[in-house]
Amino acid sequence: MEAENLLEISSLCVRYPGAEATALRDVELVLKAGQITCVIGESGSGKSTLFHSILQLPGRVEITQGSVRFRGNDLKAMPKQRLRELRGKGIGAVFQEPGASLDPIRPIRRQFYETLRAHDAAVTVRKAEEKAEEILRALEFSDPHRILKSCPAQLSGGMNQRVAIALAMAPEPDILLCDEPTSALDVTVQAQIVEELMRLRETFGTCILLITHNMGVVAKMADHVAVMYGGRIVEYGPRKDVLHAPAHPYTRALMEAIPTLDGRTPKGIPGRRPDVFPEKGCAFAPRCRMSCKECETRGMIRHTISGDHWTLCPEEVNRGD
Ligand SMILES: Nc1ncnc2c1ncn2[C@@H]1O[C@H](COP(=O)(O)OP(=O)(O)O)[C@@H](O)[C@H]1O
Ligand SMILES: [Mg+2]
Repeated sequence: MEAENLLEISSLCVRYPGAEATALRDVELVLKAGQITCVIGESGSGKSTLFHSILQLPGRVEITQGSVRFRGNDLKAMPKQRLRELRGKGIGAVFQEPGASLDPIRPIRRQFYETLRAHDAAVTVRKAEEKAEEILRALEFSDPHRILKSCPAQLSGGMNQRVAIALAMAPEPDILLCDEPTSALDVTVQAQIVEELMRLRETFGTCILLITHNMGVVAKMADHVAVMYGGRIVEYGPRKDVLHAPAHPYTRALMEAIPTLDGRTPKGIPGRRPDVFPEKGCAFAPRCRMSCKECETRGMIRHTISGDHWTLCPEEVNRGD
């Protein structure tokens, strides 16, 4: 059976209030139940903007065109109260800094209680604690009691990020959005968090959207990969296809920029990412090995490589062929 489409993003354009430039352009993405999608791309390519477009926190980003649909319901048309209910229960979020989701000086068990209470007024302190313990055990915390009694200010950054993931998982969201949840942590803790996220998918069938710049994480976790540049998804497809047979010149450059273990210096992507992306044409054209003059003015064309592997390029014929 085909997995259900939990989230459907179509022709999405967004901007930040007060900013003139469009931050996301014509983004197309479908998240299916039980699947892990990784979003990669250099900093400034629009990954966090995508995260905020799905989360729809008040005042963050403004949808100017297109839609984000959760189980068929357009978020833009949703009353504020329903959006609040959806956040946490339908769509959970883990931020880059655990401080964004945790209060440093409130006991963690209290924070679990409040999170669960927000979605179920009948939850008792005791029930909340049982639930918190169950989640912490599922995530293989060795001493859930100690954690629940502690305040985040008493724990390490890595431990707090693991707690933030557990807290986001407490209401059992259908989708978990993670914006670079491992980037501030050391390698051992990063690996532990990757294991935990994979366990969540195994245990709860959670659909995960993970923003990361760590290709090792992508190679281990992703079912699908979305590559962003200039506020667009420029390539999308199954992990194997995107990592081993990338079709977009930008994805190829990204792959060549990965440091190797044998100490060879990676090539790096030529040129510099501009601060503001052009409204017209391909944003990557000035840095692209294969671009021609028209690329800077032409519209983007979606090329299907095979199945659901596609790439966006202004050329009539995909240059990667
Ligand atoms: N709060 C904001 N106000 C205005 N522009 C923003 C804001 N946050 C990000 N941007 C712009 O949106 C673009 C994408 O940024 P972002 O989504 O944070 O990239 P990434 O997460 O991939 O590093 C950048 O050009 C950035 O300057
Ligand atoms: Mg970001």
